[in-house]
Amino acid sequence: MTAIPPLPDIPPLPDDVSVTSLRKLAERLATTAGAYVREHRPEHVVVADTKSSEVDPVTAMDRAVEELLRSMIAAERPDDAILGEEGDDVAGTSGLTWVVDPIDGTVNYLYGVAGFAVSVAVVAGPPRPGEWTQLAGCVHSVPDGRTWTAGLGEGATRDGVPVRVSTPASLATSLVGTGFGYDARRRTHQAQVLTRLIGHVRDIRRLGAASIDLCLLAEGALDLYYERGLNPWDVAAGSLVASEAGAVVTGLHGRPEGIDMTVVGGPGLVRELVALLEEAGADGDGDPSDRVV
Ligand code: IPD
Ligand code: CA
Repeated sequence: MTAIPPLPDIPPLPDDVSVTSLRKLAERLATTAGAYVREHRPEHVVVADTKSSEVDPVTAMDRAVEELLRSMIAAERPDDAILGEEGDDVAGTSGLTWVVDPIDGTVNYLYGVAGFAVSVAVVAGPPRPGEWTQLAGCVHSVPDGRTWTAGLGEGATRDGVPVRVSTPASLATSLVGTGFGYDARRRTHQAQVLTRLIGHVRDIRRLGAASIDLCLLAEGALDLYYERGLNPWDVAAGSLVASEAGAVVTGLHGRPEGIDMTVVGGPGLVRELVALLEEAGADGDGDPSDRVV
C-alpha cells in the first residue's frame, strides 16, 4: 500500500495579491475566453495542425483563445509567468505562473461533442504537477457554462455553490473516470490496464476532457479518476478544484502526481485504486523496461 505524499507548504504571496483575488481573476479569464469560443464557433471546425501524433489536433480556436488568455494575463499581471498548451513559455519575476489550456477536450470541440472547457490556474513554485503549489483555478465548461473555481484553503464551488467529493461504499460501487493519450502504443497499453480494472469497479467513463473529469469528481459525479500522461495545463485548475473538494491527488509508488500518473479520489478508495494501477503497470507503456518501480 502506498503512502499519500504530504501537501506542500503555502509560499508567501506577492504583496499585491491574495488567493481570493487570483481566484476571481482566473474565473474572469476562463469565462471571458469561454464566451469567445461559444460566440465564434465556425460552421465547420477543421484541424489546423497536429502535435504529438496525427490524432493530436490543434484548431484555429485553440490558438486564438490561447492568444486571448495570454494578452489578458499580460495586461492584468505583467510580472507573472505563463505556461500554455499552444505557445512558448513566458518568463516572469513575481514567482507566480498562469497555467492555461485554451480548449481542454479539443477532440470533442472538433467533433461537436459537448465536453470541452477553458482551464486557467495560477501556481507558485515550479509549474509542474507534484512540485507546484496551486493557488487558484477555474474550469469553464464551454457548451453549457458550468464554472468550477477553487482557491487554496478556500474550498471549491460550481457556479458559486460549494462542492464535495463522494464517499462511495467500496471500489466495486465506484464510477471511475479516465482518459487515453494520443500515442497509439500508449493508448493500447491504457486499454489493457482498463481490462484489469473494469471488473473491480462499477463502470468506467471516458468523457474526453481531463479538466471537466476532475471537476465532476469534485462534485461527486465521478468517484475516482486516473490518467497517465496528463500535461500541467490539463490538471492545473481541475486538480485544485478536486483537492479543495476533499480529494487526494497522487501518483503511484509513493510519488506525487505527475506526467507518469495522476490518481484522484476520496482518501479511502484512492489507495485501493493506486494498488490496482501499480499491479497493472499503469505508469508504463506496456514494455517491462518502461515500468516505473
Ligand atoms: C486531452 C483531454 C483528454 C485527455 C488527454 C488530454 P486536450 O487534452 O484532457 O481528456 O484524455 O490526455 O491530452 O488535448 O484536449 O487539451
Ligand atoms: Ca488543449
